[in-house]
Amino acid sequence: MSTNMLIEAVDVHRSFGTTPALTGASVAVAAGEVVAVMGPSGSGKSTLLHCLAGIYLPDSGEVRFDGSRVDGLNDTARTRLRRTAFGFVFQFGQLVPELTVADNVALPLLLGKVRRKEAYARAEEWLDRLGLSGLGGRRTGELSGGQAQRVAIARALVTRPRVLFADEPTGSLDSLTGEQVMDELMNVVRAEGTAVVLVTHDARVASYADREIMVRDGKALTVGAVGR
Ligand SMILES: Nc1ncnc2c1ncn2[C@@H]1O[C@H](COP(=O)(O)OP(=O)(O)OP(=O)(O)O)[C@@H](O)[C@H]1O
Ligand SMILES: [Mg+2]
Repeated sequence: MSTNMLIEAVDVHRSFGTTPALTGASVAVAAGEVVAVMGPSGSGKSTLLHCLAGIYLPDSGEVRFDGSRVDGLNDTARTRLRRTAFGFVFQFGQLVPELTVADNVALPLLLGKVRRKEAYARAEEWLDRLGLSGLGGRRTGELSGGQAQRVAIARALVTRPRVLFADEPTGSLDSLTGEQVMDELMNVVRAEGTAVVLVTHDARVASYADREIMVRDGKALTVGAVGR
């Protein structure tokens, strides 16, 4: 087991019925490190992300966060870990459409029992940081795709997680908008020291990362330093 790693998977196997998704995947991400996870469709990238984040339990192998086993925790403890230490951004922002932008960003804080006034003040601050000043009162359906992804990033980071899990965060955007969203995302994670597990098909998106991991047939392989 490597030391000084914030989050790691060791020899993780995970199947869905008879379909093997991961067949001995090992990855380790240091605090503040940005790692791109690449590989063909169906190779197991999303499954690996879900295992690292304690959403799926591995059939065998280990997942550790900050030196402690994640795969040994019960549902409640894993849910608490996700809420306090992890943030998530997916391809389609998965914002709550009935709520305003500010409501969406404040929500994780309110769920964490932060008082209303404080939660909305922090939401506002994060909207400013992501170039969304003045949009707090909008319904999320009234946003552009790039704006919606920025809101999703603000919502993922408002609790100041140690790890951001991003699965194709720019996958629904055109390449220019995708680059702008990646620029914003990198600015905030570098400023916060957030580690990022960034699943992407797109080599341009991966080039923002410190290191690239290739998943093939359920196995993960570190390719080495990229970009930076
Ligand atoms: N919930 C599920 N139920 C059944 N099979 C699944 C499920 N999730 C993933 N799989 C299967 O596990 C394998 C790995 O899927 P996974 O979603 O991890 O791939 P991926 O690399 O993220 O692909 P993509 O680039 O298309 O998102 C595939 O064969 C897939 O069909
Ligand atoms: Mg996927």
